[in-house]
Amino acid sequence: MRLTLPSRKTNIKLFAAALALLSTNMIACKSSMEEDLAPANQQEATASNSQMATYASSTVNFVPNETLKSSFNIPIGIAIVKERLDDPIYGSMVAREFNSLSSESDMKFGGMHPEKDKWTFTKADAIVAFAQKNNMRVHGHTLIWAKDSVQPAWIKNFQGDTAAWDNLLKTHIQTVLARYKGKIVSWDVINEPVADNGALVDNIWLRKLGEDYIYKAFKYAQEADPSVKLFINDYGQEFGGKKMTTLLGLVTKARAQGIRIDGFGFQAHTVMRIDPVKFYNNFKRTADAGLLVHLSELDISVRYQQGDTFALTTEIANQQAATWKGIVKAYLTAVPKAQQFGITTWGASDKDSFFNKGYKNADHDYPLLFDNNYNPKPAYKGMIEAGKGL
Ligand code: GLA
Repeated sequence: MRLTLPSRKTNIKLFAAALALLSTNMIACKSSMEEDLAPANQQEATASNSQMATYASSTVNFVPNETLKSSFNIPIGIAIVKERLDDPIYGSMVAREFNSLSSESDMKFGGMHPEKDKWTFTKADAIVAFAQKNNMRVHGHTLIWAKDSVQPAWIKNFQGDTAAWDNLLKTHIQTVLARYKGKIVSWDVINEPVADNGALVDNIWLRKLGEDYIYKAFKYAQEADPSVKLFINDYGQEFGGKKMTTLLGLVTKARAQGIRIDGFGFQAHTVMRIDPVKFYNNFKRTADAGLLVHLSELDISVRYQQGDTFALTTEIANQQAATWKGIVKAYLTAVPKAQQFGITTWGASDKDSFFNKGYKNADHDYPLLFDNNYNPKPAYKGMIEAGKGL
């Protein structure tokens, strides 16, 4: 499937059909990622080894004194898990290239609050300490995730009236915000609240508290730490449509109640064939609404070009680099500097990417900036070029 902008009117239908297919693929990809996190099987490992020769030819060289963060004048972030920081090679790469940290999972509800009266802050604390030691910003991810499958068991089983649910929401948010006041500068208050059809995602918080759970969550966060920046984080905003309409509507309704939503995180788990113009248009729409824009979970799948069995050729690596550069440029162009909250990639090396943690057998992917040995890929160079305005 090839996606290019139609040059003539007659191509528009075809283009729309291709886009719909791409969008469907992304949704399928998203739900599979969430459902299937089983370890890779033996078949995959064999395929991976045979692909490495081609893969190795797709790296670029580091340039002395040039890093991702030194190439931009906005924060450049990476999502990490605490355990990986214990690997000195990984830790030094994170500190050298990035100046903002998000947590892949150690700051999610179940990770920090596994039972009603039990809090486990060890991993989140370690991430914050690493950031402080290395002069990095910390972005919190995430206070409430609007999806039933990710709720801890005690939340799923909790019995109580509206006031009791309200109190749970408030206690969780305000305990976390109080602990990290002055240390975590921003939070994804709600993750993925809106479905592609524009409806609010059905989840336990919506069923117990109605749409108000969203406004209350922002209100409680704001009360706990007035200086912290508060985000709605979601995927697929680049496709605009009803999802964006609802997301922007939530901001309008919050503002009408005097509740502050500072920005949108565009997760941007995206694909190589996406047209960066789509991002441009929806970054602009968000910025025009007076919101900060965080490119919050960027990674670019190459898998849809060749199906299940492919190697990362130099050609594909270069195409991925062009898309990476295009999306970053779209961000820097569409969003005024004061509203550029930063760009965060969802991991560093392809082998660490959640795309490769069991997403269908033999379905290898290469979505990130570094190869399995932390050598930079062409996408790394593309990102740096975008940062330097090249
Ligand atoms: C979403 C979440 C992330 C991560 C990925 C992978 O993007 O926001 O925290 O869990 O899904 O499933």
